[in-house]
Amino acid sequence: MVVGSSVPTAVPLIDLAPAMSELPEEILDVCRDILRSGDFIGGSFVEHFEANWAAYCGRRYAVGVANGTDAIELALRGLGIGRGDEVIVPTNTFIATAEAVSRAGAVPVFCDVDDATLLMTPRSAAGVLTPRTVAVIAVHLYGQPCDMEALTAFANSTGLMLIEDAAQAHGASWQARKVGSWGVASCFSFYPTKNLGAAGDAGAVTTDDPWLASRIRALGNHGRSISDGNRHEMLGCNSRLDALQAAILSAKLPHLAAKNDAAGYPRNREQPWLDRPISEGSQLHRRKFLRDQPDLEQVHSRGRERRHLWRLHPERKLSG
Ligand SMILES: Cc1ncc(COP(=O)(O)O)c(C=O)c1O
Repeated sequence: MVVGSSVPTAVPLIDLAPAMSELPEEILDVCRDILRSGDFIGGSFVEHFEANWAAYCGRRYAVGVANGTDAIELALRGLGIGRGDEVIVPTNTFIATAEAVSRAGAVPVFCDVDDATLLMTPRSAAGVLTPRTVAVIAVHLYGQPCDMEALTAFANSTGLMLIEDAAQAHGASWQARKVGSWGVASCFSFYPTKNLGAAGDAGAVTTDDPWLASRIRALGNHGRSISDGNRHEMLGCNSRLDALQAAILSAKLPHLAAKNDAAGYPRNREQPWLDRPISEGSQLHRRKFLRDQPDLEQVHSRGRERRHLWRLHPERKLSG
């Protein structure tokens, strides 16, 4: 890639190290605490993060799982969705949304997205509804929230279960209500590149339903009964959030809002690009590159109803 000169510059696609070195002492302290505690799987560090994440999202429960794909699969399985069922997902998303539906045994049915926001709408979802449809997964892509009021109304009127895939939208909101608090269950990834990223794989499901929360917890822990650890009541899997990731996420969570604020996109292209805080290493390179591309338009939409957190800065080419 050539940026502002004829000398080719090697641009790393992503540089994750700065995300951890922003909080060197907190991160090292929690790592020491975990190693001393011997509490590697489950335990107080995981419970602490789950409670804080549920509170952050405005939900009653958060269940830590191994990654965001498992979060979606376990939410679906927890809701009893599987063979013979269809689940509507947007065409424009990361593959994990549809992959998780297939892994749960159901069929992902793709609906188109809105031309302006590139997000799913009730209208596009209604177009692929069949008698076998049981749920719809709203994906808040690139930190941009879907119109959750409209999708809630659609789900209520059609009797579908509404699930959020909020893997790319930690801290975004619709009508001042955070993503992660809409629908029957909301799924998060804490993959290291995410706005709240772990030092490895991690995920969570948030819900207000105590029955669903305990079912997801049991499914991700080999189907183990909550009350009797020697009983395995359903076919589960191993998808637990480990203590080290939970503790790192707890250390980073208080800084999430400031980090999201700092990641804002310049309001116009005349603004100096490089005097703004950079949330992810790669954004610096992206901004330098995009500055020189006048025929690109921001994909992100604006509006008072949405709190859009600028996770990624996708652009659409207008000419040619
Ligand atoms: C929209 C979306 N859904 C689901 C996932 C899956 O998360 P994970 O990689 O933690 O399994 C991702 C990850 O990038 C994602 O972007």
